[in-house]
Amino acid sequence: MTHAKRIAPSILSADFTRLGEEISAVETAGADWIHIDVMDGHFVPNITMGPLIVEAARRATNLPLDVHLMIEHPDRFIADFADAGADYIAVQAETCTHLNRTLQLIREADVGVGVALNPATPLSAIEWVLGMVDFVLIMSVNPGFGGQAFIENSLDKIQTLRALLNEQGRTTLIQVDGGVNEKTIGQVAGAGADVLVAGSAIYGSEDYADTIRRFRRLMAATDESREK
Ligand code: DX5
Ligand code: ZN
Repeated sequence: MTHAKRIAPSILSADFTRLGEEISAVETAGADWIHIDVMDGHFVPNITMGPLIVEAARRATNLPLDVHLMIEHPDRFIADFADAGADYIAVQAETCTHLNRTLQLIREADVGVGVALNPATPLSAIEWVLGMVDFVLIMSVNPGFGGQAFIENSLDKIQTLRALLNEQGRTTLIQVDGGVNEKTIGQVAGAGADVLVAGSAIYGSEDYADTIRRFRRLMAATDESREK
């Protein structure tokens, strides 16, 4: 099954002195989701944003807010992020001793459910929860920072997951996060990603609309070459 590809700028690379404007700028430029990276300084070696920023982002855009939790003990904060206005919440599988329970909590909070996997975490870690999620987030860098290089073997992981989902007849989306830029986006989309997160490649560019337009062209070119 194919899905319309979505582009989700990560505000991690935005100018925080003008966060509201930076969020509306990518909305006007044609973004589909707004990706918000929450880091706790424990699970990852960086600290970023909390529910307060999600609540502010909610007032800046009508686009879906896609909250990526890179935090230990995510269960404690799911309701807070949902109340702040998240539309999707993804947890890192590595942070959840009882992943099934955590995913249930997200579902009960009435937001879209995602599960994220670090580059070193095998797909088998989510085999028994695939039926509970709306999307799987394949990390194509080690989480913690924007602007890192894409880890090549993530392409195999995306392809393998796509094949598995097709085999099981699931409509689960595949999101890919880390090192997505003009050089990699065609291959990532071609491997089967539906939601492309990009931080530095969008917010580091001169013209957000032009960058997103070029991204869409590169993704469409991959689709066409696959149809041939
Ligand atoms: C990394 C974050 C990413 C980050 C991506 O830990 O999860 O969302 O913002 O940044 P780029 O697109 O610059 O690799
Ligand atoms: Zn992210």
